[in-house]
Amino acid sequence: MVDRKTIDEINEKTDIVALISSYVKLERRGKNYFGLCPFHDDNDPSMSVSPEKNIFKCFACGEGGSPLRFYQKINNVSFNESILALAEPLGIKVDLKVDQRSPTTKEHEVLEEVRIFYEYYLHNSETGTTALKYLEERGLDQEAIEHFNIGLAPQKDAVYPLLKEKGFTDTEILNSGIVRLSQNDYRDFFNYRIMFPITDERGRTTAFSGRALGDATPKYYNSPETSIFKKGETLYHLFKAANEIQRAGNVILHEGYFDCIASYLSGVKNTVATMGTALTLEQAKLLASYTKHVIIAFDGDNAGVNATLKAIDVLNRINLKIDVLIIEDQLDPDDYLKKHGKKKYLELFKTNIQDQYQFIYETTKKTLNLKNANDIIILKETTRKMLTKASRLVKEIYLKRLSKDINVSLSSLQDVLKAAPITPPPKPLKKKKTRPLPLKYYRAENFLFINMLKDKATANRIEQALGGLYVCDMDMFKLRSLLCFKFYDKYDEFDEQIFKGIIEQEKDYEPLLDKLNEILTSVEFKSQFIYNEEQIDGFIEVLKQINTEKKYRSILKEIKDQNESFQKALLIGQQKDYKIQLTKNKK
Ligand code: CTP
Ligand code: MN
Repeated sequence: MVDRKTIDEINEKTDIVALISSYVKLERRGKNYFGLCPFHDDNDPSMSVSPEKNIFKCFACGEGGSPLRFYQKINNVSFNESILALAEPLGIKVDLKVDQRSPTTKEHEVLEEVRIFYEYYLHNSETGTTALKYLEERGLDQEAIEHFNIGLAPQKDAVYPLLKEKGFTDTEILNSGIVRLSQNDYRDFFNYRIMFPITDERGRTTAFSGRALGDATPKYYNSPETSIFKKGETLYHLFKAANEIQRAGNVILHEGYFDCIASYLSGVKNTVATMGTALTLEQAKLLASYTKHVIIAFDGDNAGVNATLKAIDVLNRINLKIDVLIIEDQLDPDDYLKKHGKKKYLELFKTNIQDQYQFIYETTKKTLNLKNANDIIILKETTRKMLTKASRLVKEIYLKRLSKDINVSLSSLQDVLKAAPITPPPKPLKKKKTRPLPLKYYRAENFLFINMLKDKATANRIEQALGGLYVCDMDMFKLRSLLCFKFYDKYDEFDEQIFKGIIEQEKDYEPLLDKLNEILTSVEFKSQFIYNEEQIDGFIEVLKQINTEKKYRSILKEIKDQNESFQKALLIGQQKDYKIQLTKNKK
């Protein structure tokens, strides 16, 4: 990341008239220069350049800003790339690593055409009138619609012939993800949806997200992943927000497109949004190359709070300052703005920001009953985990707070300061049963299931890794399958009552319910810990050894029962092989 001072220096030292002159013919009129604006279809010179202020501004389309902004826009490069490009001739050293510039491909060109078409269609069709009304009802003005390049996909397929006419090949069209082949027909991927173009760091259109105009489901629909679009590496609005992020020194991270737009409408323009999935490490790294301060502004409901805890965990894997915007009444930023207005919304940024520690501590505390010993342990564990990377001052603050809250002396809380083990081993479940297999497999299976209850995406990931192939306890396997195939295929958030209802439909459901209840009352389930992917992968690896373990055990038994010495020797050889495999996998 480059600091503010360096950016200012680059802007100040770059001769804006010289820079712009190399792209556009400028003519001097008084103090300023004028030329045709390259950012819209300009006939009459409407772009003015002020050498005095070192800025440009187009009176027709509104584009304007610093030399860096001009360079970024005109070359379609990322903000960081512009910094590198303009710093070099000035001899300013910047510490920036920028990905090798990948070429603009035919797929980008295809999507750019489609974007222009969707925008045109929104403003020039009958259905467009309905769509514009919808956007207006949601508070969007013309400026916002243009800024976000919002468009409309028609009801009837239209994209394929349009692209053919522009000379693109079938392969190029299909590879862009905007058209799909269905029974030898080229069908539009999106029909009758409000279209949000998704761009990469350089402003190139790489995908679309479409929102249903009415109550059609799913509410949002994304382009498929393609060679130019990876959902987990993309942040909505990053290209356009880059300047504002630099100016503000921080970024507001939203969950939804409309939240991003709502913030923009209220004047908060340094905003980006995840693509409706949990924040990934790649997205976090991308953000970190723009700023070291992230303000998470997710929905105020339970799902939003959980997603915030997860995002904090991911962002903490990089060194970032993390704050959280607290939105009351379970609202999302967009709904809050609609209900309470711009002024109140802006006030939240002054009154309702919590640092990550405060957020984790208070959210956890709120869900607990601190007269209950189990709950006290949860608070203590959560505090310990959150403090692992914290500064000494923060550690002291929260140790004191914890000591007061759970009424335990400071000196007996010293273990809270100990570093958390990399994978805190979940405790075995209470009921003592004879276990034919080593305990670690049952632990791994329970642990994974708990994480499946906490998050749908994690559930699907674990189910994909394990399926029916790696099973330790049969009941756990049944629960796992019911959760993925009967519950999560309809719902996004775990709900105890609904899931129990599903279980009760099964033939021998009692042991399943018992097992589920055991898990739901366990400390591991109740805690707010969010385990990271590495930890989860660790447990998947453990469980993947189960078949080798079973074979190893059955051979042990065979050896015991075998009297014939030659056969016995053979079995012992096999047993050794399995043993080696098991110890090898341990590492
Ligand atoms: N999302 C998605 N697919 C869905 C639902 C949501 O990809 N079926 C993503 C979108 O990026 C959306 C974000 O998740 O912006 C947040 O979803 P949600 O909170 O459900 O919607 P809102 O942003 O509140 O959408 P709206 O205000 O339009 O109702
Ligand atoms: Mn919303």
